[in-house]
Amino acid sequence: MREPKRIGVLISGRGSNMLSLAAACRSGRINGRIALVVSNKKNAPGLQAAAEMGLQTQFISHRAFDSRDLFDHAVVEALNARRVDLVCLAGFMRLLSPTFIRAFRNRIMNIHPALLPAFPGLRGQRQAIEYGVKVSGATVHFVDEELDHGPIIIQRAVPVGEGDTEETLSERILKIEHEAYPEAVSLFCDGRLRVEGRRVIVAPK
Ligand code: GRF
Repeated sequence: MREPKRIGVLISGRGSNMLSLAAACRSGRINGRIALVVSNKKNAPGLQAAAEMGLQTQFISHRAFDSRDLFDHAVVEALNARRVDLVCLAGFMRLLSPTFIRAFRNRIMNIHPALLPAFPGLRGQRQAIEYGVKVSGATVHFVDEELDHGPIIIQRAVPVGEGDTEETLSERILKIEHEAYPEAVSLFCDGRLRVEGRRVIVAPK
């Protein structure tokens, strides 16, 4: 068996995806462990929940730095200090600078609540409802310099009904987020992901 990977999770809020990753690490579904949870928001409920699970947590305020680069540098340092192999963005509401992306090239993942490239940016579920699509879902992708743009690892679809609201659709999508994210991270930790241009190739078991 491979050495378990060390995972850093960046959050800004509720942290339910972070908790689904932590649970999957604990149960052995992911061959890895959460080495650090960073929040840029002091009162993020996810930060408290992570601490209650016994995870290492750190609050790094973006307001304490004069530029995005300086903030990102502090976060990269914190991740490196915990020897993090993979960075998972889980409701982290800050754009990453090119310096951060270079430091962890093809080692940063994000989860987005829509089927990219449809509905990037904020409130993907609301955008889907407003557009009138009949299917939406969740996307786990590697992070590159552009917003919600990097190579796609896993996508899962859900139906969108006429009676759906932003809330009901978000709830349906969140359920599949909690399955898709651990699955993608597990593939990474098992060394099964290879990036070729925009395409992610998954090696057979
Ligand atoms: C999720 O919907 C995720 O797709 C998006 O932000 C939300 C974070 O939720 N990037 P949580 O903090 O993981 O509960």
